[in-house]
Amino acid sequence: TTVAELKAASASLLAAKTSTHPGTLGLVPTMGALHEGHGALARAAVAENAVVVASVFVNPLQFGDPLDLDRYPRTTEADLALLDAAGVDIMFAPSVEEMYPTGEPAVRITAGKLGSLYEGASRPGHFDGALTVVAKLLHLAHPGTGLSARDGGTRQPYRAYFGQKDAQQLALVRRMVADLDFPVDIVPVPIVRDPDGLALSSRNRFLSGREREDALVLSRALRLLRRRADAHEPLDIPSAEELVHMIPGVELDYLEVVDPETLAVRAENCQDTPFTGRALALIAAQVGPVRLIDNVTLG
Ligand code: PAJ
Repeated sequence: TTVAELKAASASLLAAKTSTHPGTLGLVPTMGALHEGHGALARAAVAENAVVVASVFVNPLQFGDPLDLDRYPRTTEADLALLDAAGVDIMFAPSVEEMYPTGEPAVRITAGKLGSLYEGASRPGHFDGALTVVAKLLHLAHPGTGLSARDGGTRQPYRAYFGQKDAQQLALVRRMVADLDFPVDIVPVPIVRDPDGLALSSRNRFLSGREREDALVLSRALRLLRRRADAHEPLDIPSAEELVHMIPGVELDYLEVVDPETLAVRAENCQDTPFTGRALALIAAQVGPVRLIDNVTLG
């Protein structure tokens, strides 16, 4: 629960394990209420690193609505069991005071224009808060003195794992690491879904049976676009939107086809001409009490 414990534990484990592996440390940042999506991040990290730290911290800075922060699920004992089963060495679960000892930070990371689009449009300040805590966690878990990512193989190996489920967050973390020369490799992990297609999320537990059925339309709309992209047909985004509008319990916020790196809206060949190249389809909708997001790679 404390930074001092985290540093002591990771240093001694790294020293103990470095005889058999390169001394690589993997970090898996989470807000807890863990499910198999987080489990996939943890297992990927365990497979590739000598020592793995998973953080569990519900970060007040990235919540606009105090009620949303209050009701965010906290399941520490179950989280510990899931991480342990995945082979994670250290669960770092600090208090708010431990993470922000001087209170609300006066200086923060700003996500810029990319942080104001899509999820950022309906959650002002969300990505500034998320990037600020990710920056702090990357510093706190860092295994030693490192040079920046631009120095290639000469630095202490250090990786951090992020899910493709939060595509905009992943893109922003990558930009932060590149733009500010953080000495870490960012590793993306594919989306984990239930067998019926619903992307796993800590918020799914708030859906009723009926709402969960309704929520399946998000992945259905994305699969429709994927099928068209695979067949090199025009994407016809309006018809995918129509699929969502047919479910009264689902209020579509956006369905956009964007560049996979910059997330800029991709105008070319989404409507009338056959799909070529690579893109990302992003969707967000309100389903009952929950805002859900999902995405799929096209091409
Ligand atoms: P959280 O929502 O707990 O997610 C932690 C990590 O798990 C993120 O990288 C997210 O993309 C990944 N994840 C969640 N559901 C997933 C799924 N179904 N498949 C694959 N990966 C999934 O994202 C955050 O926490 C916070 O913003 C954080 C980065 C920890 C900063 O506070």
